Amino acid sequence: MRRVYLDHNATTPVHPDVVTAMLPFLHERFGNASSVHAYGQEAKQALEGARETVAAALGARKDEITFTSGATEADNLAVAGVAGALCDKGRHIVTSKIEHPAVLATCKHLAGLGFEVTEVPCDSSGIVNPAEVQKAIRKDTTLISVMHVNNEVGTIQPIEEIGEIARKRGVVFHTDAVQSLGKVGLDMKKAKVDLLSLSAHKIYGPKGVGALFVRRGTPLSPLIFGGAHERKRRAGTENVPGIVGLAKAVEIVTRDIESSNAQMLALRKKLEEGIMSSVSHVRLNGHPEKRVAGTANFSFELVEGESMLLSLDMDGIAVSSGSACSSGSLEPSHVLIAMGVSPEIAQGSVRVSLGRDTTEEDVDYLLGVLPPIVERLRSMSPLFRSSGAGGSQ
Ligand SMILES: Cc1ncc(COP(=O)(O)O)c(C=O)c1O
Repeated sequence: MRRVYLDHNATTPVHPDVVTAMLPFLHERFGNASSVHAYGQEAKQALEGARETVAAALGARKDEITFTSGATEADNLAVAGVAGALCDKGRHIVTSKIEHPAVLATCKHLAGLGFEVTEVPCDSSGIVNPAEVQKAIRKDTTLISVMHVNNEVGTIQPIEEIGEIARKRGVVFHTDAVQSLGKVGLDMKKAKVDLLSLSAHKIYGPKGVGALFVRRGTPLSPLIFGGAHERKRRAGTENVPGIVGLAKAVEIVTRDIESSNAQMLALRKKLEEGIMSSVSHVRLNGHPEKRVAGTANFSFELVEGESMLLSLDMDGIAVSSGSACSSGSLEPSHVLIAMGVSPEIAQGSVRVSLGRDTTEEDVDYLLGVLPPIVERLRSMSPLFRSSGAGGSQ
């Protein structure tokens, strides 16, 4: 059976050049970067080289990059780390309703400790209005956390304007750039961003490694205690093979940003036009233009998204219903709900996320398989028959 992977926002295959870069650090160059001997120094050199590469790709300084176990940890460190460091100044955090759980659950945890959190809304296309962020800022606000690109619908948030507002008001600004790295240009010399989270496995790197950019002078308390690793920001022996892989992946996706965007955009347009013209009662979620090239999120009325996912899986196609990170739960997506999509329609949503390796044949295969699945699932739905929509396709 043909297998087609269209879930790149959940994770990506590791690029062969990333594997090649990592391998020596799993074999002969296995040293601990804190060791004084030659093995340790070799590892240390690789670690610092990787830091240099990641910093250069972001327009950052080397000492502004802290390696973590992934973006969940980077988001936790940014949000709880700033909140903790500035708790004497204020205990109010502004975030948005469409953040990843790595930010929302951290805010919830802080709320349990006495912090106050304002979640600003988004509009029906999934964009957070900077004016809403501005309105939410109070005298005791210490942190704003708004993601760069949403993982479910792909909308690109106006982080330049939000950063501008944050800076004017003297509030620290964090953005989760997991879904934007390699898709939208990032330059920390220009962006008014104080902290930015990254994850390797979304950019053809290995799982379990990420980074947090922390602008010089940003107050940040550590979350993990132990040795003096990562300039005392994050204790624990560094994952040298993973970090080397992260750096290689960052190098590849930033180098290829234009060509991969052009390729994905052409395929996404074909996919969207194909679905919208062959299936009735379907809507495309997210902003028509302010959206990354590879992400398309559809709501199929009177179809269960999870059933779609399973049926497509039986035909070898991997997509996601709602956020991959919360799959297993049949709760409608908090992002679509925040966009004003009704819970019933949100339940029928499927996210298709293309990658640099997606081909036209992959899209054609999906376009051949998906419409009959929708038709079959709807034919079994008494709701669809009684809605009167049933005869239209
Ligand atoms: C926007 C966003 N932030 C954070 C994460 C968590 O990243 P990691 O898997 O590296 O912990 C994800 C992963 O789904 C994501 O999409």
